[in-house]
Amino acid sequence: MCRVASLLALVVLMSRAADALDNGLALKPTMGWLHWERFMCNIDCDKDPNNCISERLYMQMADVMAKEGWKEAGYEYVCIDDCWPSHQRDAQGRLQADPRRFPGGIKKLADYVHSKGLKLGIYADVGKNTCAGYPGSLGYYETDAQTFADWDVDLLKFDGCYMDWTLLGEGYVNMSKALNKTGRSILYSCEWPLYEWPFQKPNYTAIREACNHWRNFADVYDSWSSIKSILDWTASHQDVIVPSAGPGGWNDPDMLVIGNFGLSHAQQESQMALWAIMAAPLLVSNDPRDICPRSKELLQNRHIIAISQDPLGKQGYRTAKVDNFELWERPLSESRLAIAVLNMLEIGGPRGFFIGAVPGWKICDPLCNVTQILPQYKEMGVQTPQTKMVVSVNPSGTALLTVTPLQKPYWENTAERRKHTIL
Ligand SMILES: *[C@@H]1O[C@H](CO)[C@@H](O)[C@H](O)[C@H]1NC(C)=O
Ligand SMILES: *[C@@H]1O[C@H](CO)[C@@H](O)[C@H](O)[C@H]1NC(C)=O
Ligand SMILES: *[C@@H]1O[C@H](CO)[C@@H](O)[C@H](O)[C@H]1NC(C)=O
Ligand SMILES: *[C@@H]1O[C@H](CO)[C@@H](O)[C@H](O)[C@H]1NC(C)=O
Repeated sequence: MCRVASLLALVVLMSRAADALDNGLALKPTMGWLHWERFMCNIDCDKDPNNCISERLYMQMADVMAKEGWKEAGYEYVCIDDCWPSHQRDAQGRLQADPRRFPGGIKKLADYVHSKGLKLGIYADVGKNTCAGYPGSLGYYETDAQTFADWDVDLLKFDGCYMDWTLLGEGYVNMSKALNKTGRSILYSCEWPLYEWPFQKPNYTAIREACNHWRNFADVYDSWSSIKSILDWTASHQDVIVPSAGPGGWNDPDMLVIGNFGLSHAQQESQMALWAIMAAPLLVSNDPRDICPRSKELLQNRHIIAISQDPLGKQGYRTAKVDNFELWERPLSESRLAIAVLNMLEIGGPRGFFIGAVPGWKICDPLCNVTQILPQYKEMGVQTPQTKMVVSVNPSGTALLTVTPLQKPYWENTAERRKHTIL
């Protein structure tokens, strides 16, 4: 296991991600809020005015994001998912927002979101219909791209329902070109590989050239089994997908569901830590108007976000499975390393893991400086290859650490060196 893992590490570290879509966007994993997992296709504004898909929902989200630390933490995009449009295009063949739920229209909503210093995302589909049955963009790519540009939209999530799979690539590439042709920089979030995997192995070089991020696997649910299935899929395809991630284009394991109903706090920490390790877009789907303070603090944790947004832009990967622990590692800028130790045993109490057993611990030679970020922030100080350090990991929780190699010992003479080795 460890030997295979370090071979992969070598390949990943040495390969440079191929050319990304050249629109100047997503140089770091996208951060924002996306309505789907929490609000789905709730269009009943008579019965549920506070939670239905309407301009009011996004305006309130923009308010909260600007006021309560989300924007400062880096969450920038307020994103609409399915169920926003009218069932009919207008007389010119353009998409239009449902007039009852979006009386001001999308342009006015974009202006509002921009006035809060945030950006607006919208949703459409490469095929005949969206997944929820609203008009799809097939045959209308240029019209729809221009409509979104005219509305000053900043991001497009482009779904893959109701599409002949043999035309998927063409459709996604055509929309990418149509967005470029508008002259407006619009971040392009694809689901191309997700819809192609059932038929053939997707061409990630082509996907990276066309998209800023791309969904590979099933929709996230508000449950630990869903998070586990995403991690498992990612680890078992990491040799294919990890090399394609880098500034400008990212693998998208779907939304963060932290702050909802289905995950324990330890499991929320695991999702946050592993999404940072995976260099995943951090698109939260929850209700920040009403969120538990601990979940909010976790989502706004600047140490974890710094790992997510690390300028080296390398995606991490699973390097070992040992004794019901999973080890995930992500190379960071300045030769640093992030390590996540995930306790997969869902019974008992916290278990200790000996950190010297992490394959990447070799960067600690001759010395390193270790900071624990989860489950609580702790400076562990200078360590050696012979460390005795053990981290405690809650069931289905994660210990997250960063390791900074100290290449040049900061002492010169042997007396001080001896003093240090005794430490
Ligand atoms: C369109 O593509 C060209 C060539 O890749 C690029 O230089 C330009 O910045 C792109 N424009 C937009 C708006 O994405
Ligand atoms: C993509 O664009 C090409 C060139 O205009 C066109 O021939 C093709 O039919 C388009 N494919 C789809 C799925 O729209
Ligand atoms: C994958 O896409 C790239 C870029 O579009 C292309 O050059 C390459 O030939 C494709 N590979 C395969 C196996 O089709
Ligand atoms: C180790 O890291 C901590 C936290 O970043 C820092 O305060 C400390 O100065 C570092 N120690 C060394 C020896 O680099």
